[in-house]
Amino acid sequence: MTRVRFVSADGGSVIEVDAAPGERLLDVAQANGQPLEGTCEGQMACSTCHVIVAAEDFARLPAASEEEEDMLDLAANVTRHSRLACQIWLSEPLENLTVRMPGASHNMQGR
Ligand code: FES
Repeated sequence: MTRVRFVSADGGSVIEVDAAPGERLLDVAQANGQPLEGTCEGQMACSTCHVIVAAEDFARLPAASEEEEDMLDLAANVTRHSRLACQIWLSEPLENLTVRMPGASHNMQGR
């Protein structure tokens, strides 16, 4: 199992969940009540699965594809630690990954 921490947009709520290896971050978020629409279900056509990865965790993720970078350009409240949750598959190297919902306000540290 891979532990994932979801932080609300305002930082006031944190939940920790265990995900099976190979589970997609978007699916885990939605199954645990996180407000990610994921309208296109991973077809890289919506950017509504945008999350902000904790600054200290960002480098542990595989690099975003060019297509993902293009979709992030369309997302709201993007930071330099933004990623699309539909493009992140959980595995042991991502143990204790922390992501925040983008919401309406954020700082530029990606937290
Ligand atoms: S669910 Fe649409 S781009 Fe991720």
